[in-house]
Amino acid sequence: MCGIVGILGATPVADRLLEGLKRLEYRGYDSAGICTEHDGELDRRRAPGKLANLAERLRADPLPGLIGIAHTRWATHGGPTEDNAHPHIAGDVSVVHNGIIENFRPLREELIADGRTFLSETDTEVVAHLVDRELKRGLGAREAVAAVLPRLHGAFALAVLVRTEPDVLFGARLGAPLTVGYGDGENYLGSDAHALAPLTQRIAYLEEGDWAEVRRDRVQIFDRDNATVEREIVNSGVFGHAADRGNYRHFMQKEIYEQPVVVAQTLRSYLQRLEGRVTLPIPESDLSDVRRVTVVACGTSFYAGMVARYWFEQFARVPVDIDVASEFRYRQPVMEPGGLALFISQSGETADTLAALRHARAEGQRIAVVCNVPTSSMAREADILLPTHAGPEIGVASTKAFTCQLAVLAALAANLARAKGKLSEAAEREIVRHLSEAPAAINGALAYDEAIEAMAGTVASARDVLYLGRGTDYPLALEGALKLKEISYIHAEGYAAGEMKHGPIALIDDAVPVIVIAPSGPLFEKTVSNMQEVRARGGRVILISDYDGVAAAGEGCIATITMPKVHPLIAPIVYAVPVQLLAYHVAVAKGTDVDQPRNLAKSVTVE
Ligand code: M6R
Repeated sequence: MCGIVGILGATPVADRLLEGLKRLEYRGYDSAGICTEHDGELDRRRAPGKLANLAERLRADPLPGLIGIAHTRWATHGGPTEDNAHPHIAGDVSVVHNGIIENFRPLREELIADGRTFLSETDTEVVAHLVDRELKRGLGAREAVAAVLPRLHGAFALAVLVRTEPDVLFGARLGAPLTVGYGDGENYLGSDAHALAPLTQRIAYLEEGDWAEVRRDRVQIFDRDNATVEREIVNSGVFGHAADRGNYRHFMQKEIYEQPVVVAQTLRSYLQRLEGRVTLPIPESDLSDVRRVTVVACGTSFYAGMVARYWFEQFARVPVDIDVASEFRYRQPVMEPGGLALFISQSGETADTLAALRHARAEGQRIAVVCNVPTSSMAREADILLPTHAGPEIGVASTKAFTCQLAVLAALAANLARAKGKLSEAAEREIVRHLSEAPAAINGALAYDEAIEAMAGTVASARDVLYLGRGTDYPLALEGALKLKEISYIHAEGYAAGEMKHGPIALIDDAVPVIVIAPSGPLFEKTVSNMQEVRARGGRVILISDYDGVAAAGEGCIATITMPKVHPLIAPIVYAVPVQLLAYHVAVAKGTDVDQPRNLAKSVTVE
């Protein structure tokens, strides 16, 4: 899941390619590189690690040229070294690639047998060799690219630069997104509209199997059968200003603090507060015949889906299946007609979720998408698009997207319940009232930031941490553990509190902090009993509850975090905040790279 940019420019391109890469760094930051053509030669700069390293290299050794391709990498085949950094060059051909060429081994063997030498461990290098071999056999660049594409299996978005034809760039996509940007005397390729935003808003999204020949004055697009096709040029609506951290130390911190505003913003488009009604951007009758909901997502978005399952079943009495996207297709799920398949994704580009979406469509399901990026592949492929209005989320750890997803999912659950005749007007008014209280309650939760920071040291020195919760707090326990793992590198697990005595309680000793998420409510007593079982075995408990909960059960805990008292419906939205803040402060205490933690990328565009 890498980011690619290509520019066929009227002026030098290296700085602009670098700017495009900055906007794609969310796709990976293991290494980066740029290749241009100038003075009849291909020339490149590459650097392992963050983009800043490439920028430094370019400062020391600038790269001229009016045409170029660029890449930011999340390593799949081969470590994050300079040799494995893209662009790869073979003879007269330079290539950048996002995705995985699944049949690269036999292709590589074939090319080696043909006398070709490989300089990297990547799957991508075969593409450069294959195109170069066709050129050496006498084909023109366009014919060479057309001859090679059908030989590649797997998922790819490619940009190809050919030394001998320096007025043309080639792009191709299959299973990974690629856009063509239309400029003034210039044209572009980019992984997404965001990468090209400083250059143009005029974008065409290539479709599966498409490839493009991009020149300064025209773009020709072909389908997988090499027939010329037209793809609509749309206004991306994405503008050039880059997100900035303001006065915050990290994007993650800023995004945690944005939650009262973005959750309110999101709820505004789903709630009619005065009327006490929940509305979706679709006709109500659309949902009345839904007999089953299949929820599919990854990571934090999956945990939002787990919370929503409780709501769909409780309010609408509709059965719910839920899967992580990477498992969904492979268990051959049974989906009956009349089903609603619901995909949740911040980016709208997660490869597994997108593939699951296409699978569900092929199985005759209606496709609903909860998504934060309206120009994304999932948003464009949805029958029912339910946007979150979180704004760009830059920190790799998802925070504000999660709480906005929960807000939309609560609205969807209420809407589904009403469409199915399971929700009275009075009950709907109550739901609207509780949801409307969420932004202020999140504000209240943020007030405990300093208290949470003060206890972060206790967790930062631990090797393992457990999170416990019941009901909708169980997915929150999983989310807390994920947040802590990904940014502080501390091993953490989330468990359903009642499940502890079936095995995990064996892990308890005084070195393992146990974070218990237990707002007062119907499940409080049961969670507290499980918490006491942990304490009885020497476990050190941090209790997150409200004033009543802390008063009732806080004694003997090593620390307590007191949240505002909220209705159980919005508890997962509000309690997400201390969970996020704790992970954040632990990571800061440990000195990790909070916004770009090791081995990760913001958007996971490979299976
Ligand atoms: O863009 P998506 O919501 O589809 O991404 C899904 C996961 O990759 C994502 O939530 C990931 O788990 C986050 N890094 C968690 O903080």
